[in-house]
Amino acid sequence: MKLRTLALAATALFASTAAQADTVILTADAMVDVESGRLVADPVVRIEDGTIISVTTGEAPQVEDAKYVDLAGKTILPGLIDMHVHLTSDSDTHGYRRLAISDERATITGVVNAKKTLMAGFTTVRNVGAGSFGDVALRDAINEGDIPGPRMLVSGPPIGITGGHCSDNNLLPPEYEATGEGVADGPWAARSKVRYNRKFGVDLIKTCSTGGVLSKGTKVGAPQYTIEELTALVEEAHSHGLKVASHAHGSEGIVNALKAGVDTIEHASFIDDEGIQLARENGAYLNMDIYVTEFILGEGEAAGILPESLEKERVVGQTQRDNFRRAHEAGVKMSFGTDAGVYPHGDNAKQLSRMVQFGMTSAEALRAATVNSADALGRAGTVGIIAAGASADIIAVAGNPLADISLLENVTFVMKTGDIYKSE
Ligand code: ARG
Repeated sequence: MKLRTLALAATALFASTAAQADTVILTADAMVDVESGRLVADPVVRIEDGTIISVTTGEAPQVEDAKYVDLAGKTILPGLIDMHVHLTSDSDTHGYRRLAISDERATITGVVNAKKTLMAGFTTVRNVGAGSFGDVALRDAINEGDIPGPRMLVSGPPIGITGGHCSDNNLLPPEYEATGEGVADGPWAARSKVRYNRKFGVDLIKTCSTGGVLSKGTKVGAPQYTIEELTALVEEAHSHGLKVASHAHGSEGIVNALKAGVDTIEHASFIDDEGIQLARENGAYLNMDIYVTEFILGEGEAAGILPESLEKERVVGQTQRDNFRRAHEAGVKMSFGTDAGVYPHGDNAKQLSRMVQFGMTSAEALRAATVNSADALGRAGTVGIIAAGASADIIAVAGNPLADISLLENVTFVMKTGDIYKSE
């Protein structure tokens, strides 16, 4: 109550004094123009009330009452976007360990991870799967300024079949009667879950059209959901303006999801020619998480990952990397999704160098994590770009990231919506 009164008083105070916009003039040695893939010298970014008003080069203009931020010796880029994170999960609690963590506890974990992610230069993330709408709470707390974190687009509970990779964890015997929150069998049940998730404030729908690596008793190659079910789910989601992300490793499930009209394919490990062709025709984006395999095979066992999952990863990891190269060469649209949460939050940018290792130029990898991801979110022009009209989401590194993409692993400056969260 008391806080609310204070906030009201503060609003009234601002309203009576300042009609003037809050102006920031930001300068740096260089800027990566992510669209052209070129380095621009001496950028001058003018920001008003958290929005970029103009981007010029050369001398900074004299603007009365403006705040000047000079990032001498640094290169600026748009804040990065990760299309596939699980902020409410930690990398040291896999398998049976996760059963001991309540959804409430997981949401508090999310508070910690939201900050880590923002400080690593990721100013926008898509959170694809959380229990009890903890992701909605986290998103709202960040938007209301209660806690620092990236701009979040959230899915709520992932929707999937009984015993499937999404929601149902399959870890307990039947007498526990454990069923995942997002379990729905049949087209109408799937529609109903979409409606339920929308009612409680999600920004998108996450589903699973194949088994997974980390779920017990599922096969990565086996489809989950029929086309009929997937089509109903996608149609329902799209009718509410919600995009659909489908977890899919196996080629058949990838094709089913694309035929049903999903917007993004997560993992896409065994994508075949038909999948590649369909993705191109539909303009669907792939989020191929090609870094996480290093964590799973290196530290997964100690983190509680089940032996059967480690076995699956030994098959999936390298194939996914080979198919990343193939799909990229074939011209499929790529955004940037890491599955952070399976591995430590804040390490999201490590995947950029792997994308370069497996066939992209540095500029292409940066485009995947900025303009392409913005487009895949339906937010092109407002995030993932330093241009007039976009949100002032700006990060900086020392040196030229087009020459050394791994520089993105050491972000020295983070601004989101015009507010500075990190400045080294
Ligand atoms: N969450 C995913 C799953 O359980 C992780 C897959 C990780 N492996 C990989 N190579 N991308 O299926």
